[in-house]
Amino acid sequence: MKKEAPINKAYRMIYPKLVVLVSCMDPETGKPNIITVAWSVPLSINPPLVGILVAPKRYSHELISKSNEFVVNIPSLQILDKAINCGMVSGRQHDKFSEFGLTPEAAKIVKTPIIKECVAHLECRLVAQHTTGDHTLFVGEVVAAYADDGIFDGEFMNIEKSHQIYQVGGNFFATLSEKLYEPK
Ligand SMILES: Cc1cc2nc3c(=O)[nH]c(=O)nc-3n(C[C@H](O)[C@H](O)[C@H](O)COP(=O)(O)O)c2cc1C
Repeated sequence: MKKEAPINKAYRMIYPKLVVLVSCMDPETGKPNIITVAWSVPLSINPPLVGILVAPKRYSHELISKSNEFVVNIPSLQILDKAINCGMVSGRQHDKFSEFGLTPEAAKIVKTPIIKECVAHLECRLVAQHTTGDHTLFVGEVVAAYADDGIFDGEFMNIEKSHQIYQVGGNFFATLSEKLYEPK
């Protein structure tokens, strides 16, 4: 017997979701900001496109729309508290880099800084945006991508080293510690 799920919570059946930290910047003042995002998605291999879904009321929504760029940074479990704190307050009132002890470091191509403490980075130029109900899908073309030593071998993330954060739902998080399974 299958048990009915509330329709407005059904999206949580496609969790856990990888937590990423998106850095963005006010192009006028050069002040950077960080938003915690669980809704990110690969959209195309060639051209290399990734999407992030951001609610219009977020300060980061305004910044990405103005600057036409963003960086997807991958945090590890080591900075779980900092990563979640970035999703609890707004850059309208807070300087999240300095308040949470995160370091903005120059990116390779885009003007928006990367977050040094993260283990991998995808620099993106905004190429499209679509309204999807109560979120905006920002489509970014990846113009540079790199990771800390031993984290990405060109094909796969090394889950024994990367300790990526997954949101299970609400305030519950997990990481992958199991070996990899290969279907026959
Ligand atoms: C684990 C986690 C995941 C989140 N995922 C998203 C998301 O995918 N999209 C979104 O718009 N907000 C998401 N949020 C909420 C924003 O991170 C939060 O509202 C943040 O304070 C916005 O900051 P800003 O106003 O500086 O842009 C998430 C928050 C947490 C804690």
